[in-house]
Amino acid sequence: MGIVGAGPAGLMLGQLLHLQGIDSVILENRSRQYVVERVRAGVLEQGTVDLMRDVGVGGRLAREGMRHDGLYLAFGGARHHVDMSQLTGGRAITIYGQNEVVHDLIETRLETGRPLHFEVADVALDGLDSRRPVVRFTKDGAAHEIKCDVIAGCDGFHGICRPSIPASHLQTYERVYPFAWLGILAEAAPSSDELVYSLHERGFALFSMRSPHITRLYLQCAPDEDVSAWSDDRIWAELRTRLTTTDGWQPNEGRIIQKGVTGMRSFVAEPMRYGRLFLAGDAAHIVPPTGAKGLNLAMADVYRLAAALVEYYRSGREDLLDAYSSRALLRTWRAQRFSWWMTSMLHRGDSDNPFDHRRQLAELEYLVSSRAAMTSLAESYTGAPFEA
Ligand code: FAD
Ligand code: PHB
Repeated sequence: MGIVGAGPAGLMLGQLLHLQGIDSVILENRSRQYVVERVRAGVLEQGTVDLMRDVGVGGRLAREGMRHDGLYLAFGGARHHVDMSQLTGGRAITIYGQNEVVHDLIETRLETGRPLHFEVADVALDGLDSRRPVVRFTKDGAAHEIKCDVIAGCDGFHGICRPSIPASHLQTYERVYPFAWLGILAEAAPSSDELVYSLHERGFALFSMRSPHITRLYLQCAPDEDVSAWSDDRIWAELRTRLTTTDGWQPNEGRIIQKGVTGMRSFVAEPMRYGRLFLAGDAAHIVPPTGAKGLNLAMADVYRLAAALVEYYRSGREDLLDAYSSRALLRTWRAQRFSWWMTSMLHRGDSDNPFDHRRQLAELEYLVSSRAAMTSLAESYTGAPFEA
């Protein structure tokens, strides 16, 4: 197996295959340090937590992950609690940074002694519609070639795997949003035990965390926002304005240790397969981060793909491989629907008129006063169990 990309998808796939005795080579164009320090998602669905445990990578996650049974929705100056666990028969989410997930998966990969090459260049695919596809790359100036049974494209949205599929074989669906998130990490103890998603007249804000000492916060901003225009004081003032509720709750403040702007996009490429190339994770689909689904979808994809590959190597049967794309797309489109809905309910659009804002408030008010509506949110947010 050739696996392109050492993000959550590629590394988890490598581990799932390793446990079944299937050889793989993982190729990553960035350095190990870059991959481990990249700050991204933080919300793990129960399915992701269970998978990490089941593949033997869940030790630190079990000790340091922060289980959350609910979340808050804030609007009109008040915070409203959604008890997700109670509404879903005990399902919860766990806060554990994506970079920690990647750190743990890399450590485990290195312990297996199986190949994981960082800082490779010029990765290119060939013979995808043959039974012996090839991955070429250079490492330290030397050219290499791997002949594979199957290639997994786990190289994210900007990778080379999806563009290696002839355009005539791919249908893409896309929506780019007229806003982005300015995200920060701050050395401050979280002032709430659970996440707070807030709709304010000045736009969306999100209170999250990474540990008992680190708070993670986001502000809706312009897609081309210049981070250098945001002094620490300006960021805190805006966060206070958008997050403080009439009961006096507000985030604790501290030294800002990281700042960045993340664009918002919904994207799906269909099918998630071409010949012997299978796409998984962000290489095939992107969701806006409001539903916290991106990382979890990537994990659900590779869980399904690994099961299909194990069956193929065990019995030669290809029916699960043939079903991979259509089954993975079912989960993908559900997550697309949910992420789009959360995003539209909680952000101010650039063409919003006062009607749109009142409609959003009505939707939120309905949501927090209807058990059925809250259950729907909780079901999607905590995520369905992963399927093979
Ligand atoms: P990736 O994590 O992107 O991994 C792909 C890997 O492939 C990378 O390591 C990349 O360096 C490597 N690669 C790329 N091209 C090549 C190549 N040519 N050759 C070899 N290797 C290559 N989701 C949330 O749920 N919540 C969030 O808050 C959130 N924030 C995000 C912020 C940012 C800036 C981004 C980009 C994404 C965010 N996401 C968030 C989405 C989530 O992080 C992704 O869905 C998740 O990383 C998907 O994992 P993946 O393994 O599919 O892709
Ligand atoms: C995060 O903690 O980074 C986070 C939490 C919830 C989201 C997105 C990001 O919806």
